[in-house]
Amino acid sequence: MTRSRILGIGRFLPERRVTNFDLEKLFETSDEWIQQRSGIVERRYADEGVYCSDLALEATQRALENAKMKAEELDFIILATLSPDHHFPGTACYLQAKLGVPEVGCLDVRNQCSGFVYSLSVADAFVRIGMHKRILVVGSEVHSSALSYTKEGRDVTVLFGDGAGAVIVGPSDDPERGILSSHLHADGRYADALKLEVWDISKKPYITPETIEEGHIWPKMRGREVFRMAVTKMPEVVEEALAFNGLSLDQIKLFIPHQANLRINQFSAAKLEVPEEKFFSNINKYGNTTAGSIPIAMGEALEQGAFGEGDYIVLVAFGAGFTWGATVIRW
Ligand code: UT7
Repeated sequence: MTRSRILGIGRFLPERRVTNFDLEKLFETSDEWIQQRSGIVERRYADEGVYCSDLALEATQRALENAKMKAEELDFIILATLSPDHHFPGTACYLQAKLGVPEVGCLDVRNQCSGFVYSLSVADAFVRIGMHKRILVVGSEVHSSALSYTKEGRDVTVLFGDGAGAVIVGPSDDPERGILSSHLHADGRYADALKLEVWDISKKPYITPETIEEGHIWPKMRGREVFRMAVTKMPEVVEEALAFNGLSLDQIKLFIPHQANLRINQFSAAKLEVPEEKFFSNINKYGNTTAGSIPIAMGEALEQGAFGEGDYIVLVAFGAGFTWGATVIRW
């Protein structure tokens, strides 16, 4: 069976930097609290009028350029997001129209912080079975419109930022290199631990004035529970992924974890007894960009020379749902 590999990678972060000090001016928080709890110093916010599909388009154009490809060569599009342009249709359709490639199949993945890892596994499977040859996988988020800039929402608000990352997945010409395996999990018993319930289809109508008055338009998180599960499940799925491939921790050049919280990643590295510097981090600059975080981090790490041809890398994510997963790649 043909193996798949990443043929190109690109990212886009909006220009507007929002520091912890900027947030201090909006509600009761402090740079010290945010840095100490999460490692975040600043994040980027998209301007009014910018859609998730706009950030995705920018990241895609860079990934196409990196792969030396034209949009017309794409034969499938997978877009992961928790901040879609509209509730329906899927944001991948809006992106497809902006790319000017009608007829290409489009799929939205709604797996929050694990969205990229889940999406990559779908692309890998399609390439392996020969169904598609040039698949765009993009994670994109505009969080800044759906965060509560109040004391009540501050635990969530300080963590998130806007951004997008994209890769092109296609067949590998070397059977030894490419995406080796994906390991995906979820536990829906925790679905309410991190959620944005603005849309409640059990209500008639599904959005009422109370939806806004009672604050259901903002995300809600049981932070400690998320933290505890993340530091348990991320090391667990890394070990599962390595055992599946007969690889040891020492053989991994770089771990690229989802950037939710620097402390989560430090805990995970410590649990695995992996030196902290082998867990890539750029959360200080961008905060948590959810589905965008892993491709953004992977692109930066590659440019910095943190891994290269022939190296083993592991992507690992954990997020709302709960959902989590890991991907092993030989670059
Ligand atoms: O991809 C998954 C996305 N989410 C995550 O990964 C989040 C995982 N969870 C976490 O990272 C942590 O739980 C947080 C960083 C969100 C919070 O840290 P914590 O140590 O669990 O704090 P806490 O929620 O228990 O709150 C401690 C205190 C509270 O005040 P009191 O009750 O002790 O007076 C909060 O009201 O910190 C207060 N607090 C804040 N203070 C300043 C909560 N948010 C803030 C804030 N600024 N932004």
